[in-house]
Amino acid sequence: MPVISTPQAFDEDDLFVDLRTVFAHQLFLKCEGFNFAGSIKLKAATEMVEGAEREGALTPDSILVESSSGNLGVALSMLAASKGYRFVCVTDSRCNTSTRRLMEALGSQVHVVTEPAETGGLLGARLDHVRALVASDERYVWLNQYTNAGNWRAHYRRTAPAIARSFPRLDVLFVGAGTTGTLMGCARWFREWHRPVRVVAVDAVGSVTFGRPPARRLIPGLGTAVRPPMLDESYVDEVVWVEEPDTIRACHRMARHGFLFGGSTGTVVSGAMGWLARHDGDDVTAVAIAPDLGERYLDTVYQPSWVADRYGADVLVPAHAERRSAATEVLVR
Ligand SMILES: Cc1ncc(COP(=O)(O)O)c(C=O)c1O
Repeated sequence: MPVISTPQAFDEDDLFVDLRTVFAHQLFLKCEGFNFAGSIKLKAATEMVEGAEREGALTPDSILVESSSGNLGVALSMLAASKGYRFVCVTDSRCNTSTRRLMEALGSQVHVVTEPAETGGLLGARLDHVRALVASDERYVWLNQYTNAGNWRAHYRRTAPAIARSFPRLDVLFVGAGTTGTLMGCARWFREWHRPVRVVAVDAVGSVTFGRPPARRLIPGLGTAVRPPMLDESYVDEVVWVEEPDTIRACHRMARHGFLFGGSTGTVVSGAMGWLARHDGDDVTAVAIAPDLGERYLDTVYQPSWVADRYGADVLVPAHAERRSAATEVLVR
């Protein structure tokens, strides 16, 4: 019986969902949403805060500040509450209301930026706001997830070894790219440990991470309007891009089978299924990383009117049709 006395002491690292019952190809989905922060960002937050503590950068009157689309903000809120620090999260209008409320419930202050910067969009505006706060008061400590090596090191130390333990003969790993902390940590680990694993990055159409032009993106987590400084493309074997309507379809399809995952999981799964279909993926051992669960997206990805208004009603597939098409694919196979 596990008994804990701090919330960060619990983080399920060994749960995989076999998506063969939902889609045409086998894909093992590593679930990162089962901890008290509800996402993979607990790993990065813990590594960065503990690194700052070791370096002596945090004192009892420090105020942590960070730019986050939500999940890192929740993880830092939880850690700050547990460790007795104050925390200000700078987010933007794409942040889900429930995520913002979570941070506030954990005692954090949330600043919401609504106007994009001239260069760098909403993320650029968030970073400008953080810099202004840090310049205004020396108690502010900015961990800076975009450049902090603790972000990728968390996945080098924990996420990649956990995957390799469960799948010693892994062929392909699909990782979504936000700050690219998860991607770089996993890719570095598999490269340095000489595992012959193909690392496929999954990005949203409209993200500039891999040199494509910016365009409207509404689902938080993956993709960015500012090229991530942490990214080293020499570690990435391939990139696939996913349109947001396909993200929504993948999320709804998993939900119809009882698996309610977050928006970025829909992106990664959609990209992975496309890749497996193109590469005759039947003999391939493939893992994808699911960064969080679906409750935070009930007002967006899982809200029919939100989806229809933004992407058109044809993105919504009635439940009975979804079941039929899944069954058809099983028969064809
Ligand atoms: C839901 C979700 N998916 C994916 C990511 C991307 O992870 P990373 O920043 O490690 O690239 C994030 C990051 O915040 C996230 O919140």
